[in-house]
Amino acid sequence: MQLLLMGPPGAGKGTQAAELVKKLNIPHISTGDMFRAAVKEGTELGKQAKAVMDAGGLVPDEITIGIVRERLAKDDCKKGFILDGFPRTVEQADALKNILENLGIKLSRVLNIHVPVSDLVERAVGRRICKKCGATYHVKFNPTREEGVCDNCGGELYQRKDDNEETMKNRLSAYESSTKPLIDYYKKAGIYTEIDGRQPIDKVTEDLLNVLSTVN
Ligand code: AP5
Ligand code: MG
Ligand code: ZN
Repeated sequence: MQLLLMGPPGAGKGTQAAELVKKLNIPHISTGDMFRAAVKEGTELGKQAKAVMDAGGLVPDEITIGIVRERLAKDDCKKGFILDGFPRTVEQADALKNILENLGIKLSRVLNIHVPVSDLVERAVGRRICKKCGATYHVKFNPTREEGVCDNCGGELYQRKDDNEETMKNRLSAYESSTKPLIDYYKKAGIYTEIDGRQPIDKVTEDLLNVLSTVN
């Protein structure tokens, strides 16, 4: 299954992708995670991406498209994949179409996790991530048993640098102007489904899996 998880910043794409990976056993490809890994490693890509990400803008299309093209060509993607946070512009969506055509595959479904803007800042600002295993929590909506400590592995939790109110304004406006048009793009392609992301995490997962049970 070739899936695309869409949704505004903080909608729950990463949280749901982690659940879907467990059920479907296909790789989770998050351009945001790839950029953050590059920043941490201090690579050339990381240097290019860091300032843009810290400001809540979008990394240039040619850079982003290049890393996704490389990633999708890897063997583990042959059994399917879950794209998260890509594409984010019409240019990226056109490029994805082209990449997949060259690989002889198609997107099975585009799943948009819909959450109203009024909820998103709280979701982002309260997010905490494990330094060791990458598990995502929320101080209010999905807290760890012990504050600041990962339930999975005991690792220390941290906050993303772009998870503050100021940067969220820019991330939300980038979403509105560049990414939201992709809803119509994929509606026209006939592969679009919207999921209510305001429900509890496990209910959102259930809805996603229900949709996927009808996809072949
Ligand atoms: P990226 O990492 O993709 O960030 P994003 O799109 O802003 O999305 P988030 O990761 O913030 O949110 P999410 O939907 O994954 O939510 P999560 O599950 O964590 O991108 C970061 C940056 O990289 C971009 O700003 C850009 O600069 C750059 N970039 C990345 N891709 C790019 C591209 N294609 N082109 C150009 N630039 C690119 O959940 C959020 C919180 O809510 C968590 O705390 C979670 O516990 C909680 N939560 C989740 N679900 C629920 C629920 N149902 N109820 C209550 N709380 C919930
Ligand atoms: Mg994410
Ligand atoms: Zn952990």
